[in-house]
Amino acid sequence: APTAVVIVAAGSGTRLGYGMPKALVPLAGAPLLLHALRGVVGAGVARQICVAVPPGDSDLGGLCRSFAEEFGVDAPVITVVEGGATRADSVRSALAALAPGTGHVLVHDAARPLTPADVFARVAEALDRGARAVIPAVPVVDTIKSTAPTEGEASAIAGEIVTGTAVREQLRAVQTPQGFDAATLLGAHEQAARWPAEQAAGITDDAMLVESLGTPVYVVPGDLRSLKITTPMDLHLAETLLATAGA
Ligand code: C5P
Repeated sequence: APTAVVIVAAGSGTRLGYGMPKALVPLAGAPLLLHALRGVVGAGVARQICVAVPPGDSDLGGLCRSFAEEFGVDAPVITVVEGGATRADSVRSALAALAPGTGHVLVHDAARPLTPADVFARVAEALDRGARAVIPAVPVVDTIKSTAPTEGEASAIAGEIVTGTAVREQLRAVQTPQGFDAATLLGAHEQAARWPAEQAAGITDDAMLVESLGTPVYVVPGDLRSLKITTPMDLHLAETLLATAGA
């Protein structure tokens, strides 16, 4: 069955401080979304690419249309939809626009412009082998602790206090593209659409919705180059990686 790739590009990008949607922010002279589109097409896994852009935005939609014109008839179909207030809302909008009969869906962040083709291939292969959900991930280098705000006298010492330490060897930093059997992902998102607002606000990736249904989520190696551009420092790192790769 055909595979579709959803690219979520509807984020505001306020943490990057460019005063424009994050997917439009230039990296080595080209918008982040253009890098992501080239990466998806280059990976050769998609029959359809569905891009969620910010509501009311025309720049990113226009970018998708001119990108589509560069390709011949063998290229994936590119569909543009309006995203929503949260990442999950944006994914839901995109899922509603998938071609009938789509078998597998890969959901990818526009904010990961340098994801190597190998990562797309590993995710797609796991789906072909029968996984209903698969995510790329890398080991965590920092020790991760949970904290809570301090109360009473303790608040005069510091703002937060440690409540626990996770076992680092078991932790993974999760990336995209995350791959799913289409019906599984649709079902998970339909259920999450009914969650109360505070629970919905805690949705940070698609796999956690599938996990909540009890469906096994498999893990394949991600890649450090698949970093998510969030802060100006990430943009510097990505510029350097591109310059080194081109040298
Ligand atoms: O904000 P964060 O870095 O987690 O966003 C990850 C991805 O989700 C980005 O590519 C962003 O454009 C996308 N997003 C979206 N719709 C939103 C919020 C984020 O498509 N409402």
